[in-house]
Amino acid sequence: MLSATVLTRRDELVAALDAARERGARVGLVPTMGALHGGHLSLVRRAAAENTTVAVTVYVNPLQFGDPGDLERYPRDLDRDVEMASAAGADLVFAPEAEQMWPEPPATSVHVTGLSERWEGEVRPGHFDGVATIVTKLLGLAGRCLAYFGEKDFQQLAVVRRLVTDLSLPVGIVGCPVVRYPDGLALSSRNAHLSAEERAVAPRLYAALLAGRRAVEDDAVTDPGEVDGAMAAVLASEPRFSTDYAAVVRPDDLSPAAVVAGQVRLLAAVRLGDVRLVDNLPATSPHPEAARSRSEDG
Ligand code: PAJ
Repeated sequence: MLSATVLTRRDELVAALDAARERGARVGLVPTMGALHGGHLSLVRRAAAENTTVAVTVYVNPLQFGDPGDLERYPRDLDRDVEMASAAGADLVFAPEAEQMWPEPPATSVHVTGLSERWEGEVRPGHFDGVATIVTKLLGLAGRCLAYFGEKDFQQLAVVRRLVTDLSLPVGIVGCPVVRYPDGLALSSRNAHLSAEERAVAPRLYAALLAGRRAVEDDAVTDPGEVDGAMAAVLASEPRFSTDYAAVVRPDDLSPAAVVAGQVRLLAAVRLGDVRLVDNLPATSPHPEAARSRSEDG
């Protein structure tokens, strides 16, 4: 198997992707923080299927960590990441040293108003500013491309779509479905910190989202409070869980749904031991979208 070329400097990445485009290549970009698993690799495979040159970025971005301990213990294994990314179809791995990305602390911060402040943003203040700032920088370095992000971090995907639209970046954003274990738990590098007992109950988060989806799709519930309650009841039945939020929201701006109609998204996050589990699921209400607009119009 051919191994991906590892680049550590910004100018090397810019030159490599410019050269690829000059040869007529379509460039696919997969931003990650490394510790690659099947979720990341689904993005790389999709990028490889839809493009001719695929670059995976591996950079643990300090700007998006509130807790220095969390940053410190974030798993790092570049050799393994390069091997896995190569096998999934990556041509380039961009793995810069911290000093390459921020030679000095940036005075610029990208803030997506509204979207960044709810749900994860409320629990992790400043997190999405760190994400938006590094993603803007990475997309700037990559230039014209398709960039792949997981629906696992649904709010992050919404933040990225919004900043690309607002700043007219020449990049297409592709959202990819959540990859799960057979028991429903979403793949995440943070799962490694779960004890055996915690790992056994972790799929209850997915069970709660399924309960929310049943309320929306099978019971045709229109009251968002009732859908939230259906999810909260499952989460409360697991004593090891401490719930951060469980809510049915509009899929575009993640604002709480006023009435459950059309396409909605179910969001939930819990703390389990030292680990936060964050997950989401789409749902389609049998009530048409128009019902929502009418009720909003008064
Ligand atoms: P990281 O957590 O490494 O995730 C990289 C990408 O993989 C993200 O788009 C994430 O949504 C996706 N991903 C993770 N687990 C997944 C799963 N189980 N199924 C599908 N996709 C999954 O997200 C980040 O890094 C950073 O915030 C980053 C965007 C790189 C900016 O630093």
